[in-house]
Amino acid sequence: MRIVLLGAPGAGKGTQAQFIMEKFGIPQISTGDMLRAAIKAGTPLGLKAKEVMDQGQLVSDDIIIGLVKERISQDDCAKGFLLDGFPRTIPQADAMKEAGVPVDYVLEFAVPDEEIVKRMSGRRVHPGSGRVYHLVYNPPKVEGKDDVTGEELVIRADDEESTVRKRLAVYHEQTAPLIDYYKQEAAAGHTRHYKVDGTQSVEQVSRELTDILS
Ligand code: AP5
Ligand code: ZN
Repeated sequence: MRIVLLGAPGAGKGTQAQFIMEKFGIPQISTGDMLRAAIKAGTPLGLKAKEVMDQGQLVSDDIIIGLVKERISQDDCAKGFLLDGFPRTIPQADAMKEAGVPVDYVLEFAVPDEEIVKRMSGRRVHPGSGRVYHLVYNPPKVEGKDDVTGEELVIRADDEESTVRKRLAVYHEQTAPLIDYYKQEAAAGHTRHYKVDGTQSVEQVSRELTDILS
């Protein structure tokens, strides 16, 4: 099963990726998490990516396509994978198509911008695993600590409101065109596209995704 999660920053992709990964046993490939790991490790890619990410802009297609191709060629992806935050531009989607990588499901998360700005201010993340929490909507069991490891949760560097608004503008300009792209792919029988109301509770969204994928 090869799945693409499509949606604005803060729409809930990472939260539901964690759920799908556990429920269906396929690895999550989050290009955002991969870039943050490169930043933490201080690699040349990380140094280049940090500047771009801090401004809410997209990292270049060439770099991202290379990262994803390398990742999906690994053994644990043989039975499928969940792409979280990729593709994010038409050239990224075309690159997958040209590489002969089919997508079985495109799950689009719809959430209005103002709701997203509210969500981001309460987000806390566990950098080691990519697990995502929210102070009010999805709190950890112990305040400020990851449920599994007990390690400290942090605020993401790009969650400041002005950066969130920039990321939303970039989403509408460069990523939202992928909705029509995948609708056309679905009409041609190449994939299945589902639009999910991402303003529902975390549990309601998970239930809807389970129904679609089962
Ligand atoms: P990335 O890490 O992919 O960030 P993003 O797409 O902006 O998405 P987010 O991770 O911010 O949100 P999410 O949809 O995962 O929501 P979450 O589940 O956390 O990318 C970061 C940067 O890396 C980009 O800006 C770019 O620079 C670069 N990059 C990455 N991929 C790239 C690519 N392919 N090409 C080029 N550049 C790339 O939820 C958000 C909050 O809401 C959490 O607090 C959560 O607890 C809460 N929440 C979730 N669901 C619900 C719900 N149903 N109700 C209430 N609260 C909820
Ligand atoms: Zn995410």
